[in-house]
Amino acid sequence: MNRTDKIFGIAALFDTPDAIINAAEKVTAAGYKKIDVNTPYPVHGMNKAMKLKPSKLGFITLFFGLSGAAFAMLFMFWAMSLEYPMIIGGKPFFSLPAFIPITFEVTVLLATLSTVIGMLTFFFNYPNNNHPLNGTAYIKAVAVDKFGICIEASDNKFDKDVIEQLLHHLGANEIETIYYPKDEVYPIFQPKYLMFLAATAIATSLVTYFVLNKLMFMDPFNWMMVQDKLIPQEKSEVFEDGFGMRKPVEGTVARGFIPYPFMGEPTPADVLSNPFLPTRENIELGKKKYLIYCSPCHGNYAEGDSRLRGQFPNPPTLHSVRSREMSDGMLYHIITNGQNIMPSYASQVTREERWAIVNYIRVLQRAKFARESDLQEIKKESAANVE
Ligand code: HEC
Repeated sequence: MNRTDKIFGIAALFDTPDAIINAAEKVTAAGYKKIDVNTPYPVHGMNKAMKLKPSKLGFITLFFGLSGAAFAMLFMFWAMSLEYPMIIGGKPFFSLPAFIPITFEVTVLLATLSTVIGMLTFFFNYPNNNHPLNGTAYIKAVAVDKFGICIEASDNKFDKDVIEQLLHHLGANEIETIYYPKDEVYPIFQPKYLMFLAATAIATSLVTYFVLNKLMFMDPFNWMMVQDKLIPQEKSEVFEDGFGMRKPVEGTVARGFIPYPFMGEPTPADVLSNPFLPTRENIELGKKKYLIYCSPCHGNYAEGDSRLRGQFPNPPTLHSVRSREMSDGMLYHIITNGQNIMPSYASQVTREERWAIVNYIRVLQRAKFARESDLQEIKKESAANVE
């Protein structure tokens, strides 16, 4: 190996983890500061034995993590509150809960990337790959099964003979003096590495191209392309008429749907009877739906006092003799089918709701035109109350 006479340090090899821990402890205790230990795997207790302080890498992580959080918050504040102030889901422009996920992600992203890049550049001087230990017998041994310690010449207490004696005393097997190399031992930017990178890039591109553009179209991998399917706007080969979709069989009815047979006719041809009894719940339902769908035109009490005055012709009162003598089925028919300019409400109110509205209209009519028997009832009740 081409090396100068300048000493980098003295390195010693040990056989067991216990021996290296012991050696690290003793060398540190002897006051050497510029030392490093190389082992094939992490040896527990080594940082204690070497009296290492916690790594400063965490400060890089903290700094960039906080920068990420601040950047994400500021960016969202700028974008959502200043540049594009849009109300989304009724939230305020600066909505902290909605911003948390992105802030968290950017924090983690910057923290992790800066940790790895910071470690490589600040601590390992990447891309400078030059270290005097590179290529020595020592580093090759500790990369496999030996445990090594190296005391550097830049240490204030460095004295070759004293150190060799100390390492001997600690039971070192081999002691090697490391000299600075003349040139970089493993230069990164070598033509052979660059060629390897280029070859890898070309090979992966070719394989990707072949798989996605050729292989997927070959038997038997092409089944995704050739399977029978219906492509929108294209003629289907499956059916004679060229349509991919079949029409439902004549008379098909959707589940839960009862077709209304008298659509478009002035009156229902058959007698329609109300299948829902005017129970309290049914009338409550009818009232609710009447107030939503009918009251804008017919008024809250069906007196024809439209709230849409001027926008839609006033309907007649539903307290007329005509309306009061109308059958339940006819009222249902008018809601379902509409009548003259009154539109159909079949798509807004369900069948049950329509019958409930009919029951509620009967309640309104009865309230205005009470029967003699109803009055008797009331008289009896109030008499009972007076007593
Ligand atoms: C957009 C306004 C409007 C709404 C909403 C409306 N109607 Fe009508 N309604 C009318 C008009 C206008 C007439 C008169 C139609 C005509 O000329 O025959 C009418 C007529 C009627 C009649 C027949 C009255 C008669 O004497 O011929 C009934 C019953 C009736 N509506 C019930 C309802 C019910 C029940 C609702 C709620 C589902 C409703 N309407 C919703 C405008 C409306």
